[in-house]
Amino acid sequence: MADLVTQAKWDRLAPRFDTMASKGAEERWRPFKREVFREMDGKILFLALGTGLDLPFFPTGKDITAIDISPKMIEQAQERLDAYDGTIKAHVMDVHDMPFEPDSFDQIVTSCTFCSVPNPIEGLKALHRVLKPGGRLMMFEHTGSRFYPFRPMMNLMTVLSRMIGPDMNRPTVQNVRAAGFRITEVNNVFLDVVKTIKAYKPD
Ligand SMILES: C[S@@+](CC[C@H](N)C(=O)[O-])C[C@H]1O[C@@H](n2cnc3c(N)ncnc32)[C@H](O)[C@@H]1O
Repeated sequence: MADLVTQAKWDRLAPRFDTMASKGAEERWRPFKREVFREMDGKILFLALGTGLDLPFFPTGKDITAIDISPKMIEQAQERLDAYDGTIKAHVMDVHDMPFEPDSFDQIVTSCTFCSVPNPIEGLKALHRVLKPGGRLMMFEHTGSRFYPFRPMMNLMTVLSRMIGPDMNRPTVQNVRAAGFRITEVNNVFLDVVKTIKAYKPD
């Protein structure tokens, strides 16, 4: 059954998302996101498109399927989709319920997504299903912290942040492992909170 609650939450945020996200922190993270995007190759699944803020930093000429649960986010992304110099097809789709065949993609790339997907381990298992054996998962994510006082602060912030958008305290590295991926690299970009994660699906 479609997750209308999550869809409505992100639809509501869509018209304001660029104003909220495109300055400040987003500019600071851009070089690290770029480093992840630089390695995009083959048949790529990009989760989640959002308003397409990441698209100008994708390498050109790639074959990308982009999904997002929110039709309003995809609407906002249209100009950036049109400007992309390569193939990118966008679909309204819940990561928990993707109709793709098993082993469909060479790579999966995500950016600031697993703070938002409602059931992260299930969402990651769904990605695992559609990734080819040996295929790479490349992520830019903010996560919870293991350290005091950030850990309790982020638990507290999540009570409020999840009402309008993401959770601030997800253990995403552990979740990636729990979904069956092998981690090859975790790079802490800011404390142990903002990070790039690279993993693959074992054969
Ligand atoms: C924090 S935004 C990040 C958007 C974009 N990647 C960026 O960094 O600008 C999280 C995105 O995840 C999408 N999302 C949340 N749950 C989802 C799900 N179950 N399936 C697909 N997309 C989902 C939301 O609609 C939203 O666009």
